[in-house]
Amino acid sequence: MSDIVLEEKAGFLWITLNRPEVRNALSRDVNTKLADIAADIDQRDDLRGVVITGAGDKAFCAGADLKERKGVSAAETAPYVNAIAAAIESIAALKQPTICLMNGSAYGGGLELAMACDFRILVEGAEVGLTEVKLGIMPGAGGTVRMPRLIGEARAKELIMLGRRIPAARALEIGLVHQVVPRDKLRAAVDGLIAELAACAPVSVTSAKASIERSYGKGLEESLSIEHECYERTLFTEDRDEGLAAFAEGRPPRYQGR
Ligand code: COA
Repeated sequence: MSDIVLEEKAGFLWITLNRPEVRNALSRDVNTKLADIAADIDQRDDLRGVVITGAGDKAFCAGADLKERKGVSAAETAPYVNAIAAAIESIAALKQPTICLMNGSAYGGGLELAMACDFRILVEGAEVGLTEVKLGIMPGAGGTVRMPRLIGEARAKELIMLGRRIPAARALEIGLVHQVVPRDKLRAAVDGLIAELAACAPVSVTSAKASIERSYGKGLEESLSIEHECYERTLFTEDRDEGLAAFAEGRPPRYQGR
């Protein structure tokens, strides 16, 4: 069985980390495959979105494969760590909306991967944490950058500098995840989100995502210019005409993604 399983359903690509026996830890092989998969997705204009999840019910992802890393020589350490960061960045850079369906706990690189997605749905009873400082390292795949953006600097310092693991309810309270649901409602929660996304015009969604991503942290003038540029992509689409026509005719729009 492959350590990553791909499945395409109704325009969404499901990526399942499939190493439940090691809590879906990110091995060298998994990182390489994730980056390759992201490169393929980037070429696909027909894909409406991506769902990333993990096999089993113990963990979404326990982060870097600590057993494999133990055997990595000093000379190979930097490239090894860079490969995790590159894999996670390739997911963050996807133009399509990304949903992390967190079927269990997420630590270290597992939480960094989740934070690189646009939406996070976490199963009740799970916990999350950037535990790296407890392991003599620090987050190195976007954790110290994305977490403060998501939950603010004060809370991010608390979680990162203390390597704290927090329960799902707290993750929801501080805005680290969008939803916390019981295990038997996970599928319905992700299906609901997919249906909401599917009802929106694809070019509008990807353009809005690009505007948010590209303008973050920039000055007002530059940000507004980026927004303007992204907005222009929606201006001459058939979907824009369809949206206006559907509104005028009082019917749901049928978007084609062009
Ligand atoms: N890398 C490699 N193997 C890992 C792993 C990781 N990050 N996390 C867990 N595993 C392995 C364990 O070594 C164990 O292997 P074994 O059966 O050969 O002993 C197996 O997965 C199950 O782990 P276990 O701890 O027994 O399961 P659990 O369900 O009780 O706990 C975790 C799961 C994820 C809570 C716990 O393993 C853990 O805290 N892992 C470290 C998470 C972490 O700090 N990651 C940050 C990395 S930078």
